[in-house]
Amino acid sequence: MDPNGKVAVISGAASGIGLATSKLLASNGASVVMIDLQAEAGRKEASEIEASGGKAHFVETDVLKKDDLQHALDEAVSRFGRVDIAYNNAGIGESGDFLQPDNDVWQRTLDIDITAVIQAVRLEVQLMRSQGGGGVIINTASMGGLLPMPTSPIYAVAKAGVVHLSRSLGYLAAEGIRVNAICPSFTLTPLVQGAGEAAIEMMKQEIGGILQPEDIAQGVLELVNDDSKAGEVMRVTVRNGLDYAHLPGRKQA
Ligand SMILES: NC(=O)c1ccc[n+]([C@@H]2O[C@H](COP(=O)([O-])OP(=O)(O)OC[C@H]3O[C@@H](n4cnc5c(N)ncnc54)[C@H](O)[C@@H]3O)[C@@H](O)[C@H]2O)c1
Repeated sequence: MDPNGKVAVISGAASGIGLATSKLLASNGASVVMIDLQAEAGRKEASEIEASGGKAHFVETDVLKKDDLQHALDEAVSRFGRVDIAYNNAGIGESGDFLQPDNDVWQRTLDIDITAVIQAVRLEVQLMRSQGGGGVIINTASMGGLLPMPTSPIYAVAKAGVVHLSRSLGYLAAEGIRVNAICPSFTLTPLVQGAGEAAIEMMKQEIGGILQPEDIAQGVLELVNDDSKAGEVMRVTVRNGLDYAHLPGRKQA
């Protein structure tokens, strides 16, 4: 799908990967509806896209709330007419060790990183079906959804869920709705900056570098453009750039 003239709803759009993708899709002619919890930053970023000639609108949204998600989709339709592209990207990392008795935040990682994605996909498919004409849905997973992550096992569970959800919905391509996942490796955004310089340096040594949010945005653009991709899982890594994680024994497009 050529994003030019299309309408995209992007979550986690006030920062990092979601922001870079909003800018890239807007510069490719899409009208972008940027949704995030961070209202001040989101409004400012949307105004900057508008000031540089793009079409953008920010809607304060908590992806944990079904009504907020529905409101964001309704706003996109009332402002720009329809929704062609949905990028479910809002996410958080994992804090502490979930095995410790006093750790009660692990559930939030599951809630935001997989349950909210399931809810968003439900609403987006319902909307795209009602509009007719298909659509593209992309979900941000992580390389941690493909590989074990001893430092963040609950995050890995949630992201593996995003990978499996996206692969399982490949069949919607028969009605013109393409669902795919993107799995970034370590990317320089506020999410990892919170871990501190020393941790970032260690990860860079371990995996040979760090990606920029713009690298992931390029992957999203490819998934929007390439009409052959449905139920696919794109990896974005320093070593191999953009490639696809194919299941053994499955025929791929
Ligand atoms: N940075 C990495 O190394 C990396 C690697 C793999 C996957 N990811 C994934 O990429 C996605 C984007 O992360 P990022 O690195 O750009 O981080 P980020 O912190 O810069 O952006 C995440 C955004 O999501 C928003 N958000 C969080 N909870 C929300 C909620 N309940 N409702 C609405 N918005 C909410 C935040 O406000 C923030 O703007 C996440 O799903 C993350 O898990 C990141």
